[in-house]
Amino acid sequence: MGLGKIFGSSVKNCTCVYLCLQILNTLATTTILAIESSCDETAAAICVDGKILSNIIASQSIHEKYGGVVPELASRAHIQNIVPVVQQALQEAFPVAESFLHTVDAIAFTQAPGLIGCLLVGTQFAKSLALSLNKPLIAVHHMQAHVLANLIGENKPDFPFLCLTVSGGHTQIVLAKSPLELEVIGQTIDDAAGEAFDKTAKLLGLPYPGGPLIDRYAALGNPLAFKFAEPQIPALNFSFSGLKTSVLYFLQKQQPGFIEANRNDLCASIQYTIVQILLKKIKKAVQETGIQQVCLAGGVSANSGLRKGLSHLGEKHGWKTFIPAFEFCTDNAAMIAITGHYKFLAGHFADLSTNPSARAESIKLLSY
Ligand code: KG4
Ligand code: ZN
Repeated sequence: MGLGKIFGSSVKNCTCVYLCLQILNTLATTTILAIESSCDETAAAICVDGKILSNIIASQSIHEKYGGVVPELASRAHIQNIVPVVQQALQEAFPVAESFLHTVDAIAFTQAPGLIGCLLVGTQFAKSLALSLNKPLIAVHHMQAHVLANLIGENKPDFPFLCLTVSGGHTQIVLAKSPLELEVIGQTIDDAAGEAFDKTAKLLGLPYPGGPLIDRYAALGNPLAFKFAEPQIPALNFSFSGLKTSVLYFLQKQQPGFIEANRNDLCASIQYTIVQILLKKIKKAVQETGIQQVCLAGGVSANSGLRKGLSHLGEKHGWKTFIPAFEFCTDNAAMIAITGHYKFLAGHFADLSTNPSARAESIKLLSY
């Protein structure tokens, strides 16, 4: 039946079609299926109009016994996990239907940076899905996604804001001008904050990843028990390799049994030093930019000392601070989904020839 027959006259027809389109427009939703596989978490999430409906993460415990992530084992685990993880994300988001795959508007995936074999699994899976469903692909930069995790939920910062992104591979101060315009204004010149936690934890005989364990023991110790040197690095940059060396030399001078007897104090002092290095630089960034909205992002933002430290600093100086919920701090696909959402709205799509990249752009100004 033609539309003219339904609406009676051509004038009415035009008005009604317009109204129908308006209603359809307001009802139209943007559904993103997102996949994250850059390191040792296989994750999938569904986001509808910027709201996260599901966020599934399969962590890989196999690496614990090796003291760090073994890339080949991580890639193999991604291959095993990716189908059930995506299936679970769909089922949780749309529990009443068997599969809502056809309602997905685009497939977002982590393209860079990360372990290349791991990224390849997610990229190939996303490309195959996009090809078979005839849906657009969205390539997401993992570090941009960590920053945009702050846009999940009701309490979000306005633009522009500053973000301290602290993960296992990166430490950056990012000036976010819009969801798609992020400028790195400071970064580590050697180890990342997460590496500082993990490497010093290893010196204390703790298993990988040591960050969460240092956090746990630190809660029981005295942060001022031992003093470790803080590096003097110019501008808004960081350095963490000296801390690891200073902890190593300090431990070498001690008697056997010292670590076991002082574990809580050692953890509290190491955590305190790392947190002070980070907070001093974010304070400098606020002074230099005049931007008083400060966010945290990345795995290390799960650290309780850092979360408390930033909140106190914010209260003291009148800044607005934003800290993502724990599940959006460490690697997850919800952050890939929210980034995919903004890229979808801006029409930033990737084609099927897109390849993953192990490295992030090294240039200072990153327009992701
Ligand atoms: O962002 P993420 O999950 O993965 C990367 O993209 O690197 O960050 C992982 C890092 C690891 O170094 C881990 O030790 C650290 O985050 N981490 C923590 C805590 N939870 C995770 N570091 C300190 N305290 C924590 N509670
Ligand atoms: Zn990460």
